[in-house]
Amino acid sequence: MSLRLGDEAPNFTAQTTEGEINFHDWLGDGWGVLYSHPADYTPVCTTELGMTAKLKDDFDKRNVKVIAVSVDDLDSHKGWINDINETQNTHVNFPIIADSDRKVASLYDMIHPNADDKATVRSVFVIGPDKKIKLTLTYPASTGRNFSEILRVIDSLQLTAYHQVATPANWVDGDDCVVVPSIATADIPAKFPKGFKEIKPYLRMTPQPNK
Ligand code: BEZ
Repeated sequence: MSLRLGDEAPNFTAQTTEGEINFHDWLGDGWGVLYSHPADYTPVCTTELGMTAKLKDDFDKRNVKVIAVSVDDLDSHKGWINDINETQNTHVNFPIIADSDRKVASLYDMIHPNADDKATVRSVFVIGPDKKIKLTLTYPASTGRNFSEILRVIDSLQLTAYHQVATPANWVDGDDCVVVPSIATADIPAKFPKGFKEIKPYLRMTPQPNK
């Protein structure tokens, strides 16, 4: 059965390019991104892994660890990393899981047989410090993911977790936010000292609290 938001992210042990890990121990008490690739030595994946390496500081400052998975073995991953470093002008600085037995791909339902019965689709799981799944995305093999969107949604998730605001359509960092419905309007001034605008009783906007 597929994983849903709020489910616990299944734990596993696996070989990675940075040694064996227990996934939950590796996550520690921070946030995580687990994402899959159809296979090693494929063009779109090469650009995605290079982009992830270049964004390490952006993930670090959000307290997010990133780990990739593809259904090839460690030797293949290691050779491919050389190509990624060379062609994307970077240095892969995060682990890639060797999942040739498809253990992780099966646990996270990353193989969609009607799309391809062997390769994984492009899945993304954002996992919170409580090990619960906060976001799932599924892209086809032919579409590289938008890493600005992955960072944007992590910002939104963290604003909700730490500041009790939600984010409206097309929100980007710095825009006004929505006060979550569970906060009574009478309680807003004390919680949001930057002020708020009540457009409707159910639609209360406030400047981004952590700016
Ligand atoms: C790939 O790079 O993984 C890919 C590109 C086009 C179609 C399928 C896969």
